Amino acid sequence: MGSEGKPQLQERVPIIDFEGFNGPNREKIRGEIAAACEMWGFFQLCNHGFDQDLMKRVKDVSKEFFYLPAEEKVKIRVMPDTIQGWSHSSLAATATKLSAGSTEYYHNIFKPLKEHLLPLNPPTFGSTWIEYFEQIQVLAESVLALISESLNLPSDTLVKSMRGPTSGSPYLANRVNYYPPRKATDDPLGVPSHSDPVAITFLLADDVAGLEVNKDDKWVEVEPIQNAFIINIGDQLEILTNGKFASVDHRGMPSKDPDQERLTLAAFYSADDDRVVAPLQELLDESHPPLYSACTFKEYMAKFTARGLDGKKGIESMH
Ligand code: SIN
Ligand code: FE2
Repeated sequence: MGSEGKPQLQERVPIIDFEGFNGPNREKIRGEIAAACEMWGFFQLCNHGFDQDLMKRVKDVSKEFFYLPAEEKVKIRVMPDTIQGWSHSSLAATATKLSAGSTEYYHNIFKPLKEHLLPLNPPTFGSTWIEYFEQIQVLAESVLALISESLNLPSDTLVKSMRGPTSGSPYLANRVNYYPPRKATDDPLGVPSHSDPVAITFLLADDVAGLEVNKDDKWVEVEPIQNAFIINIGDQLEILTNGKFASVDHRGMPSKDPDQERLTLAAFYSADDDRVVAPLQELLDESHPPLYSACTFKEYMAKFTARGLDGKKGIESMH
């Protein structure tokens, strides 16, 4: 159904057309992104020009991985006090704080790559995800350029503020969530409410609804749009923009259809581990003091890992 039939309340996550972002539509798109970041902390991006075949391949290899027997997946299971690898609530590890019920996830860091946590099966899993992240980095940096410009800052400000002092790179990581059909489980929970600890997230979802965003204390379901990226502001961008663009709580639910599975693929862009993240100096003056304390992304993630998914408490401790 098109949007014509629906009441035009501001009750849906804004949908932004990225066509022409490097040309005639740049100013318009920049304004739309800034408004969405300020009002929602979320938007959907269409016509982004991302390789559609690669989007399909990355979904396919991810699904194939989850379909493997547990004995195979457990080879790269999350170890105690870490969060990377494959996890399921049957595993007693920190990771169980990061999902609930029968939801499984695979989480890994692609920059700098944790190669030992790439599954060997399906054989193209690692190479497909590496290729995907090369393109995600390009798209993320285009979006971050527009966000920088909307703050009246040079285009490369946010990207530069996240590069590692020695690596010269940002941090890139994924988290793939597999929600089995509800009828296969008596515990239909998903990914509990949280804000993302990173700077910005690009979520690729299948056609099944289940992502809910907290807007003014109400849960608003994000409508599935084929091959759109659902983009959201994370805690590091909230800190860098001194609260102008804040992270927002959201949660992931299985399909309402008891026979339907659901798969979501999150790609995270953030500051390199050793980069100190603090409100950008350019945004501060006497009437705009820093609202957050500085810390490296690594320190921030250590606190996040210890806490698990638990609303926005993590960033609140930075005030
Ligand atoms: C997440 O935020 O990690 C989960 C989102 C989703 O699966 O819809
Ligand atoms: Fe999230």
